[in-house]
Order: sequence, then C-alpha cells, then structure tokens
Amino acid sequence: MKKQLVLAVFSAGCAFAAPVGNDFLLQTKNTSMAFSKQGDSWLMLHYGKRIERAEDARLLANSRYAGSSYLCENKPLTYLTAGSDSYSGGRACTKFAGLSVIHADGTLSSELHDAGAETVRDEAGAEHLTLTLRDPAYPFTVTQHFRAFAAYDIIETWAEIRHEEPAPVKLVQMDSAAFFFPLITKKFYLMTLPGQWGSEGQIEETPVGKGQTVTLDSRSGIRSAMGSNASFMLSLDAPASETSGRVIAGALAWSGAWTIRIQHDQIDGLGLFAGASNPSGPYTLIPGKTLVLPKLVLTTTESGKGQVSRNFHRWARDIQLHEGHAPRPILLNSWEGAYFTFTEKTLTDMMDGTKTLGGEMFVVDDGWFGRGSYARNDATSGLGDWVVNDAKLPHGLAWLADQAKERGLNFGIWVEPEMANTNSALAVAHPDWLLRERTRVLRGGRGGSQVVLDLTNPAVRENVLGQLDAMIASCPGLSYIKWDANSHFQNVGSEYLPRDRQANVWFDYTAGLYDLLARLRAKHPGLQLNACSSGGGRMDYGFLRYATEFWTSDDTDARQRILIQWGASQFYPACAMAAHVTAVPNLQTKRVTPLKFRFDVAMMGRLGFELHPENMTDEDVAFARAAVADYKRIRPIIQQGDLYRLVSPWEANYAALNYVDEKKDRAVAFVYGMTRLIGTDFPEPLRLQGLDPAKRYRVTEFNRVKGNKEHIKGNKKVISGSALMGIGLPIRLQGDFDSIAIELTAENH
Ligand code: DGJ
Repeated sequence: MKKQLVLAVFSAGCAFAAPVGNDFLLQTKNTSMAFSKQGDSWLMLHYGKRIERAEDARLLANSRYAGSSYLCENKPLTYLTAGSDSYSGGRACTKFAGLSVIHADGTLSSELHDAGAETVRDEAGAEHLTLTLRDPAYPFTVTQHFRAFAAYDIIETWAEIRHEEPAPVKLVQMDSAAFFFPLITKKFYLMTLPGQWGSEGQIEETPVGKGQTVTLDSRSGIRSAMGSNASFMLSLDAPASETSGRVIAGALAWSGAWTIRIQHDQIDGLGLFAGASNPSGPYTLIPGKTLVLPKLVLTTTESGKGQVSRNFHRWARDIQLHEGHAPRPILLNSWEGAYFTFTEKTLTDMMDGTKTLGGEMFVVDDGWFGRGSYARNDATSGLGDWVVNDAKLPHGLAWLADQAKERGLNFGIWVEPEMANTNSALAVAHPDWLLRERTRVLRGGRGGSQVVLDLTNPAVRENVLGQLDAMIASCPGLSYIKWDANSHFQNVGSEYLPRDRQANVWFDYTAGLYDLLARLRAKHPGLQLNACSSGGGRMDYGFLRYATEFWTSDDTDARQRILIQWGASQFYPACAMAAHVTAVPNLQTKRVTPLKFRFDVAMMGRLGFELHPENMTDEDVAFARAAVADYKRIRPIIQQGDLYRLVSPWEANYAALNYVDEKKDRAVAFVYGMTRLIGTDFPEPLRLQGLDPAKRYRVTEFNRVKGNKEHIKGNKKVISGSALMGIGLPIRLQGDFDSIAIELTAENH
C-alpha cells in the first residue's frame, strides 16, 4: 500500500534530478554516508552516525585514507577498480579490486573519473544518488547507485557497466560494491549465516584479523543461500550484542553465484567487495549492452544487532517484499503428509482437515503433473510438463480449487519451473533447452534425471511463462504458488550462448530467472509466491523482490527450527518465514516434541501445517484449533511487528524473543526450552524489550496445555511496560521442549 502511495506522489511530478556539489551527504534517519569529489575522484568519507554538514566529513577525513600503505588499498574511492598504479595513494589499486576489466584491446587496467553526479527522490521515496564514472582512455562507463531509504536507515548500492569499445570486454571481477569503509578500527568481528540443506542460517561469528580477507560465497548458481547466506554483520571494536554496539550489515540481493569479501587491511581499514561471481571465467560484455549488477542492501547502527534486523525487516515489508503488508495465510501443504502418493480423495480429505483445524489455504505440493510415461509419481520424471496428471487427478486443477473454495479455503500449487527431468515431454522435444556441455554426458541430479533449463535462452523463458500462464488460467481459484528449485548448477553450458561467452551462463541464468519472475508478477500481481529451493536455498532479497515468503528449511523439527529461524530472523522478517507444524517423530531428525512446542516455534513466522490431519488424535485437533485461533489474533503483531531477540539459543539452553506492534499497544513473547538440566539452568526473569515504559499491559499466557501449571508469574495481571522491561517476568520451564507463549495488551491508563 505504502509503495503505491509513494508512486502516486512521484507521478504527480515531484521527481527532478538535481546536480550534486563537491561534498554531498546521503541522509537517513540516524545515519549519513558522506561523499566528496577530490580532483576527478569520488570518495566516501563517512558511513555511520548521522552528521549534518557534508564538508565536516572532508574536514575530519583521516590522513591515513590518503594512502600511506604500500598496498595502496586505502584511498576511499567509491568503487575500486584494478588499475595501473602500484604505489601508495594511487588512483586505483592493482592488487585488490571489485572491478577488473580486460578491455577490447587487451589492456588490463581501468580508471574511473567523475563524469557527473546527480540526485533524485525516486519512485519508492528514496533519495537516489547516481555517480557516473568514465574511463578517460576508453568509452567505458560505470554508473554507481546509492539509494537511501531514510525511515529504515537502509542504503542500497549497485553499479551498472556499459561500454562502446570496438569489441567485447571481459569482466574478470564485477562487484556491485567495492570500497573501503571510511573508518579505522583495530577489531572487526564478522557474523555470517553458514548452512546447508536441513541446517540453513546457522550463526558464526569470528574476528577478522589484520591482513586477513574473508570470502563468503555460494557457487551453487541456484541455491544462493546454501553454503552461506548472502549477508553479513560486522561489529566494530567489539562483538555487538542485540542491544548495543556499532554494526555495519549487508545483504546481497542475488539468487545466483555470488561472493562477499571482507578485508581487514594492514592499517586497520575495512574493505567490502560484494557481487555476483563468475565461477567459470570472465563475463563477456558486448558493446552497447548495459549490465545491471545486483543490489547490496546496507545498514548501520550503534544500537546492536537487534536494530540491524529491525531495519532490514521494516524495509523488506515496506519496500522489497511483494505485498509486504498483506496478512500471510495459515496453510496446509501436502508434502510431509502425502509426498508423491495421493489421489483426489487424499487431497480433499486433507482439505477437510485443514478446514477443521481453522486453516485458510490448501497447497498441493510435488506430484500433481506430467502425463503418461512422464507422470510425476516420484522424483524421476515430469518436471518441465506443467499439465495436470489426469490419471491421478481426473477432475483437474480447477475442480480441486473449487473443492478448496467449498471448504472456505484458498488454493495453492507447487511448481519447479527452472527444471526438467530428462523423462519429460519438454526435455525430449527440446534437448537444446537444457544446460549441457556439448562434449560430455548429461548428468542427472535429483531422481537421477533432473536437469536445469537454460534460462539464458528467451525461448525457454517464453515456454515456461506460457506453461505457467496456461496453468494459472486453467485454475481460476489459484492464489499461491510454491516455486521450488532442487538443484545446484550442473552440466554448466548453454546451447544458446555463443561459444566464446559460455562463462556468462552463471550471471545470465539469474538475470533470465528475474526476467521470468518479473513478467509472471506483472501478469499476476495478486498471486502469492513462496521462494523455495530444497528448503531455505532461496532466502535472498533478489528472489524475495518477487515473492511473498520463503520456505525456511526442509528440516521441520521444532528443536532445530529454533536455530534455523533464529538465523533467518537476523535479516528476513517473520511475515516471510514459512514455518510448519509437522508430525512426530520428525521426518528429518526423528525427534519427538510436544504439539504445543511445535506450535509455539512455528508461530515465530508464518504459521502453517505439513501433515495429514487424519493422523491427528481428537485431543491434538482440539489443541491445534485453539492454537490456530490464537495465531489469527496475534498474527498482525508477529507478521508486522518489530522483533526483539532476548535470549539466544546459541548461548543458553532456552531461547526467548518478543514482537511489538507499531503503536506499542500489543506484544507477543515466546520462550523455548530445549534440553533441561535440573538445578543448573534456571531461566532469568524475562526482560521484555520494545514496550512503552509508560503503558500498562495485561499479561496473558496463551496456547496452554489443559491442566498444566502456569509458566509465568503475573499471569492475567496488569503490569507496566517499565517493570516488564526492567524487572522482567519470572518464568519456569519444566522438562525437555517446554515452551511459553505470552500475549501483552495495553490497557487504558
Ligand atoms: C523440496 C522442498 O523443499 C520440499 O518442501 C518439497 O516441496 C519437495 N522439494 C518436493 O519435491
């Protein structure tokens, strides 16, 4: 809604680009990024706490920035290129750069001079600074963008590259951001989210020692967030806590291969180089084409990691996510309840169960498509043929959607549009549409026959879009698509790209994916889209520009989900984090946890189910119905509120967090006990955060198991925000996997 409002103001005609003077401040509510033109170079002289006069940054610029190091990487140019200087203080460093070009004539260096700077208030309400940088020796231009979203203390930055040289140039390195932050600090601590299938978003924090460069990367090409999430938090001086400390954080909005390099240099400067990577060799850029590099989303604060997360969450809901303010529905997904083995009756029975539980949507996962010998009854066939399997579902998709509607449910479906099985009508008809190497045997991934479609080829994208469109048209009740992608890049080669441009496949695939998503989005703006890639492999802000949420992990064990969701919450908001209650013993870990615990954990994000309701006992159904009703009541606080992480599961054997709505009238807190040890691990009083100290809140424990004792002191009492935050609620946890859900509602005072 906010997006539309801003757009209306913009189109009413207030957007005029203004030229920029030699000193310029890009301002957000609490932070400033200061730019200064010195000679023909643009420098960044401050990024941190807000200042008011641009020239102050120049007056206070540290002389060490001017370059006294023999490695010459400490001149704070806004975009560092591989240049020809090798002495300190040089214009461009030969050793460590974010842009490394082999020009058409074979020259290895680039120099970027100012060719104009302007600023505009853009269509999203951001102040958008553009620096045009040109190489005096070549018709080669980099346009650098800095886009400040004042309310969230967020600055997006990226670069566009274009040239008119007589022949293609080779981009060896093509980072979106490549600069040294204008600060000098002895200690830097890097927090990242490593992980893989089933354990996404783990938390790792280590110092980056002097002289060290730490590289994060995902070379998957598709599952961008496996290996490492494309994000980082850097604490300066000392590791920041949730509530204090200087932090600079970033997230790269890219779903393909990427690298982020962080350098603690020899004079205690901090370098950041982040962008799409080219694992197979340089990207060949033809004359006249503009290469738009992915956005790096930056924020900084002196108030700790919790504030970093809240900045990202608010920006994501208001700006980046599709329909970031729409309530996310409580859905039941068929996967863990039925896998590939279902009939129409299985699905309508599940719909009945969804209705009984109080759910709002039913989603058919994998296994509904492909015909004849290509029917999808396991992972070996069917991908690529997005037509309903009429042997399995004779009444078709529209009928299923109607069945859902009759039960008061919306309807959703699973697809994996970037893939094919070699056993599919699509792959048989168009073998040249698959990523493949001309001289090698085609390797099959999942099911032995899964291959990746060549999305660099517009004809392939046209076909996929056409099939998805036809499927959507055939099912008027469809309101949700789960978009899966269960492969890394394999058979990395393109029949479409010329032989001398094969290495472009990594970047052009993801650019093709975004083209496909943008066109789908334009045609079906109301469609909800789940970003899935073997679980949380697409937890990135590139895909999330088109999506409403992401599937957080195939690991649905509530115990391990606490860690995974804790990690995801560092950068991604609760409204986008799909979290499903599943059956026990858990499919992946075989762990048995109480139903209440599973609910409390899934309520950290967008609650859903993934089980067959007919396997639930009457007692479980009754409990679940009440829990769903509770979630509907607190959904706006969780999905749209601010998150405060109170006790980390990485530091204690329980975890706690709370959410507070914008007006600070309503809040919800959860406490998750893990393995309890008698006598040694009494939880501290739960000191809530983010409440209004002057307001008085009625405190109510909800989602309780009948007959069990209260977990909190002060239940149903009215207590001031100041006492809840200052003294804290005494809490008790008993036994393994005990949990507490608390609702706080401000009363008139
Ligand atoms: C992987 C996803 O992460 C699962 O949720 C499920 O959709 C399967 N793919 C289906 O093949």
